[in-house]
Amino acid sequence: MTGIRTSVESLGVIGSGTMGNGIAQVAASAGYSVTLFDISQAQLDKALQMISKSLTKLSEKGKLKESPDQVLKRLRTTTQLQDLKEVHFVIEAATENREIKFKLFSELDKILAPGVILATNTSSISVTEVASHTQRPEWVAGMHFMNPVPLMTLVEGIRGLATHDECFKQVRAVAEKMGKVFIEAKDAPGFAVNRILMPMINEAFVALQEGLASPKDIDTAMKLGCNFPMGPLELADFVGLDVCLFVMEVLHRDLGDSKYRPAPLLRKYVEAGWKGRKTNRGVYVY
Ligand code: CAA
Repeated sequence: MTGIRTSVESLGVIGSGTMGNGIAQVAASAGYSVTLFDISQAQLDKALQMISKSLTKLSEKGKLKESPDQVLKRLRTTTQLQDLKEVHFVIEAATENREIKFKLFSELDKILAPGVILATNTSSISVTEVASHTQRPEWVAGMHFMNPVPLMTLVEGIRGLATHDECFKQVRAVAEKMGKVFIEAKDAPGFAVNRILMPMINEAFVALQEGLASPKDIDTAMKLGCNFPMGPLELADFVGLDVCLFVMEVLHRDLGDSKYRPAPLLRKYVEAGWKGRKTNRGVYVY
């Protein structure tokens, strides 16, 4: 087994969607030199705009140590995976699709120097299985950020079956340098957050389907009754109904318990293309 790379100054982020661009932003704000990879240049351009907007907003509120331009100077984008060759640590936040992640891990394993950690931001795929697509499973771990990454403080850390203690220590150190609070969860379906959050969101769809209350009243019930910042249906639209359905399918299949059965109404909305805020229609119309 090759030894771990000890000092981490540069970071590669794979995927520039909502999670990837948030992770890249927070990493650059923490002082890392960041290379953000995506297959689409248009998506990278959009990501840079989102990051710039978010940094400006945080700066106006005095929540940024430097100017947005100083942070942006530490961030570069690329459509070539090879450009990640020199980075010291990688966080993958590509589409939540098993085959895409497996292929990326196998390719990155060949490109990166030995001892460089490969972390996955998967919210539901087995970290052990992702790691098995590399020759360095001891240097692979889960690093699950929450949306919106610049505002949410938590990172869930997940050890795969082969994850080395030194690897996990470094994953924690990187998360903490990024200003996050790190918790450790087992490599089990949904880890800690989605194992609890998604059945709650799913139940809100069951309640809606039964006509228990209107969407607005279900959300108000949880906001004012339980002090949630967003109601479960509003949060489902925010996360993406397709993502919620995908996680419920994983919980249902892998835990084999009918209590995780996806709500038929949730499935119907996804079939209709009503995926939430990103499609301008989910439970609510935007
Ligand atoms: N960067 C910088 N600022 C941002 C931002 C971002 N990415 N996103 C929002 N803001 C700003 C807003 O612009 C707004 O600023 P002003 O007050 O100046 O207008 C401020 O933050 C507050 O936002 P809003 O007024 O829109 O709404 P809010 O007060 O409800 O806060 C929120 C937004 C922090 C997202 C809050 O609603 C919240 O905590 N919601 C729950 C989010 C959550 O549960 N996330 C986890 C999802 S699960 C997950 O991610 C895991 C998974 O695998 C699915």
